[in-house]
Amino acid sequence: MTGRAGSGSARRFVLASANPKKAAEIAEILGDRVHLIPRPTDVPDVVEDAATFEGNARLKAVALVRATGEPAIADDSGLIVDALDGAPGVRSARYAGEDASDEDNVRLLLAALADVPPAERTARFHCVVLARWPDGREVVAQGTVEGHITAAPRGSAGFGYDPVFVPEGGGGLTFAELGSAPKHAISHRGRALRSLADQLPPTEANVE
Ligand code: IMP
Repeated sequence: MTGRAGSGSARRFVLASANPKKAAEIAEILGDRVHLIPRPTDVPDVVEDAATFEGNARLKAVALVRATGEPAIADDSGLIVDALDGAPGVRSARYAGEDASDEDNVRLLLAALADVPPAERTARFHCVVLARWPDGREVVAQGTVEGHITAAPRGSAGFGYDPVFVPEGGGGLTFAELGSAPKHAISHRGRALRSLADQLPPTEANVE
């Protein structure tokens, strides 16, 4: 993510995500279109207590712009399960508790869906990504991928709920079985970030 060679003409942003796997996905998807700087380690986490993905993305971006004085990119994402009335939603990272691991969250999700038949296990991932400048300008983009929740985890790539989510257009494989490039081609995050990159203004004052 850092010091990308030849990035002198790329738009430069500090990245809000402190989740290393999510940050790696964001860097892979954006490639050379954006020069991402990792979040400085002394910038504390923000409390993600907004009611929407966009609200949480904005909280993270505003806090980072304030702390660094630099333009920032922040994302917020989660899994929306129809049979659970939209849960875990904005609480996806903390579904099984404040310090829950990915495995804890997946276990709780499968338990909550134990009696739900395959046809009713529909779900979607949603991602809102937001670029924000110190003068308050913003570009916001979003992406969604429809799919369903499996009966048991499958595959080892990715993070979060990847082992139990089968996306539409993925040939019946989970995100964790598909691996990174095929995942990015259809994922909520891939769609949101490509849309964001398309909408970013020319480099102007934002050149390295
Ligand atoms: P946040 O956006 O960092 O608040 O957390 C989003 C949470 O949603 C992650 O910790 C995962 O639990 C889940 N999530 C979001 N995107 C993905 C994905 O691409 N694969 C699997 N889980 C995801």
